[in-house]
Amino acid sequence: MTTGQKSIANAALNSDDDSKSERIRQMFASIVPRYDTINTLMTLGLDRRWRRATVAMTEAAGGVALDIATGTGELALELARAGARLTVGMDFCPEMVVAAHHKLAKSPVAGNIRLGVGDAMALPFPDQTFDCIVNGFMLRNVGDLDATFAELHRVLKPGGRLACLDLTPPRGPLRRAFSLYIASAVPLLGILVGRKYAAYRYLYQSLTIHPDADQVAARMRAAGFAEAGYRLTGFGTVAIHRGRKAG
Ligand SMILES: C[S@@+](CC[C@H](N)C(=O)[O-])C[C@H]1O[C@@H](n2cnc3c(N)ncnc32)[C@H](O)[C@@H]1O
Repeated sequence: MTTGQKSIANAALNSDDDSKSERIRQMFASIVPRYDTINTLMTLGLDRRWRRATVAMTEAAGGVALDIATGTGELALELARAGARLTVGMDFCPEMVVAAHHKLAKSPVAGNIRLGVGDAMALPFPDQTFDCIVNGFMLRNVGDLDATFAELHRVLKPGGRLACLDLTPPRGPLRRAFSLYIASAVPLLGILVGRKYAAYRYLYQSLTIHPDADQVAARMRAAGFAEAGYRLTGFGTVAIHRGRKAG
């Protein structure tokens, strides 16, 4: 690991909202080429199933959907496959959006997807634009979680659904084993496959300060989401949060 890489991951966690966002953006830009491969290895291929379960919570068919923090576009693709009439995939890291663009161009559902660069905390859309919104592995990374939920609530139509997939601090007997896995094995994978230690060490660090699933649900409720709840999967290490904008 270079000193520069170390300092990006550490500074990402120890900075104010604006500089945290910039550091996070730089960090994701640095891992684009191997992002999908490491994701699949790290989750033992379960990420596909989790993404499908996330999209299933949104009743996307026929509607206008947003995948915010789209990364390489996997959830945007799932939304389009689920029958969304139009899907917008947006990320604040332009390098990720370019990678998504290349991937999506090969898909038969590409015609129903638009991609763009934008920040979850200040979305370039009018109020009440989307029928549903999803995000994957974003919650731990945003500079201000409450501002993000408020912004997602603003751009949802009344009755619209939000579903958020992310790692969650595990409870119970698996806690220690999972911590060991994510603190040691995942960064090792990052070195072996992507030559990036710091970005994958950051994953563990970000999880240690991430609120637990009950707290995330409470913050969704505070932002105005009705029926805010969650489902745990991945042996309790992954939470899929859902909520609805009151109609
Ligand atoms: C771990 S990746 C997840 C990508 C994708 N959603 C997936 O499921 O694989 C996190 C993504 O969140 C994006 N991100 C983080 N903070 C963001 C923000 N404030 N606004 C938009 N995108 C953000 C990063 O650029 C990165 O692409």
